[in-house]
Amino acid sequence: MSDEIPSPAVIESAVAARYAALASACGSLSCGAALDHAAPAPGETVVDLGCGRGRDVLRAAERVGPGGLAIGVDLSEEMLAEAARRTALATNVRLVRSPLAPLALESGAADAVVSNCAINHAPDKEAVFREVHRVLRPGGRFVVSDVVAERELPESVRSDPGAWAACYGGAIPETEYLAAVRRAGLGELRVLHRTEPYDKGGVRVLSLTLWATKRAIHGRDGPTPGEKA
Ligand SMILES: C[S@@+](CC[C@H](N)C(=O)[O-])C[C@H]1O[C@@H](n2cnc3c(N)ncnc32)[C@H](O)[C@@H]1O
Repeated sequence: MSDEIPSPAVIESAVAARYAALASACGSLSCGAALDHAAPAPGETVVDLGCGRGRDVLRAAERVGPGGLAIGVDLSEEMLAEAARRTALATNVRLVRSPLAPLALESGAADAVVSNCAINHAPDKEAVFREVHRVLRPGGRFVVSDVVAERELPESVRSDPGAWAACYGGAIPETEYLAAVRRAGLGELRVLHRTEPYDKGGVRVLSLTLWATKRAIHGRDGPTPGEKA
């Protein structure tokens, strides 16, 4: 078995095929409650990375109200079509077809970036976290629920594009994930929730929900968990 991870193009094509098939299916594709922890407030701009069928985009739109904006980002045309159908009545939703890095979004405009079970698919997670840092306003918050590996995954799994598409082949250990978030410049990092490890595709993974902020230019960082946004 090759000791290389699949190329970004190969992963992207496996991910696109899996989610094209899942766009009209039922069942949760989430692995945590990132949006609830982010607690969007009226008037805010919230970005959901890997928004899938748009469930959290719609919930964010309801919370930010007519003066705010909920932006869903995904690469899958089929997922975005379903998200558009579900959010059709909302006037404060924008859906963007874009990879997670580079993100086709302007800099410094988001109060909160959330993501649920999507960044594990990215071969370069630190590049995604740098993009999160770029699109957040100073003091803005990043709340992510994602799958991480209990320990380094075997090469047989890391080299399998199907495993990447199925939300475990790209899972990295928690310490590596947190280090990549920090290296991207995000601070005040804390783990809000950690599940027990569970079996996926024959390996042990767990779901984490993390909070981080982009340092404010003046004064203190953004709101911390438990505070009002
Ligand atoms: C497991 S689903 C989660 C969907 C949604 N967040 C939810 O909780 O229901 C992962 C989503 O991330 C998207 N995705 C995966 N890799 C991506 C990438 N590199 N760029 C953009 N979207 C990506 C997929 O198309 C899919 O819609």
